[in-house]
Amino acid sequence: MIDRTIFTPRLAQIVRKEQFTTKETFYEMRFKDGSDLGHDPGQFVEVSVFGYGEAPISISSSPTRGPNFQLCVRTVGDLTTALASQPVGATVGVRGPFGRGFDLNAMRGHDVLFIAAGLGLVPLRSLIVNVLDERPDFKRVILMYGTKNPSEILFRDELEQWKSRHDVEFYQTVDLADSSWTGNVGVVTTLFKFVALDRLNTVPVIVGPPIMFKFAVKEVLRKGIPEDRILLSLERRMKCGIGKCGHCQINDVYVCQKGPVFSYAELKRLEEAKI
Ligand SMILES: Cc1cc2nc3c(=O)[nH]c(=O)nc-3n(C[C@H](O)[C@H](O)[C@H](O)COP(=O)(O)OP(=O)(O)OC[C@H]3O[C@@H](n4cnc5c(N)ncnc54)[C@H](O)[C@@H]3O)c2cc1C
Ligand code: FES
Repeated sequence: MIDRTIFTPRLAQIVRKEQFTTKETFYEMRFKDGSDLGHDPGQFVEVSVFGYGEAPISISSSPTRGPNFQLCVRTVGDLTTALASQPVGATVGVRGPFGRGFDLNAMRGHDVLFIAAGLGLVPLRSLIVNVLDERPDFKRVILMYGTKNPSEILFRDELEQWKSRHDVEFYQTVDLADSSWTGNVGVVTTLFKFVALDRLNTVPVIVGPPIMFKFAVKEVLRKGIPEDRILLSLERRMKCGIGKCGHCQINDVYVCQKGPVFSYAELKRLEEAKI
């Protein structure tokens, strides 16, 4: 029998909205029927603005934080521009959650190394907040975050909170500094020189633009971390989100179903992933 709930958007209301940068807007939403999104960190939803279509967007909030859920969207085209023009109180459609998220249980008892570049912090934040909400279950929590320049930094208030915690090792960098920046300058992988990793016990989680994957994976492999323990979230062109349209296919895999989270060992055998 067809599960119609995966095709039908649930109505959600925008309850909070914040302009993070010139391009990225933060949204907090809640389903009008009071239901829960019921997601795992790393999953995504299909967001529709009626009359404009829909787009896959990562869930940025942790399932530990109640029924409201949060997204952060870069305005690039038709749908994302229409979404940016919606005021607080507006109704949008949301299908999902979809895809395979992060296996949190496999990380418990381990050091977790988060490596986020650019918009990669958006899906990774769902996992970071979940880990911090269950902090005693994990050993070291190490976070590396890089953006092109200081004006592209997302979730600034939250970053300050993470920085000030004694149980989070926080490293940040920008590719190009301006007069406001006093921290490290260079791509996110330049932060590896500040950190000693326990190769037997570290789970690296890498999310960012494809170009960064190659270099970040090289660094963690160089530290001796096994390929099947390195996790990446892969963004591919998606349409339906549910394995019907084929837009997201690489080799014999639909990324919307088998991913977006994969281990490096899995991606290595998928030539078209180009990692
Ligand atoms: C699993 C997944 C999670 C995503 N999470 C987020 C998120 O959290 N925040 C966010 O801002 N964006 C996210 N994206 C990208 C987002 O889906 C696209 O930016 C969106 O579909 C663009 O729609 P549009 O109608 O505004 O733009 P369009 O008019 O369709 O296109 C405008 C421009 O964006 C490019 N583009 C269109 N679709 C994609 C796509 N799927 N991936 C990359 N480039 C695209 C086009 O080539 C074009 O240059 C995610 C994509 C996937 C597959
Ligand atoms: S997005 Fe349609 S099959 Fe994956």
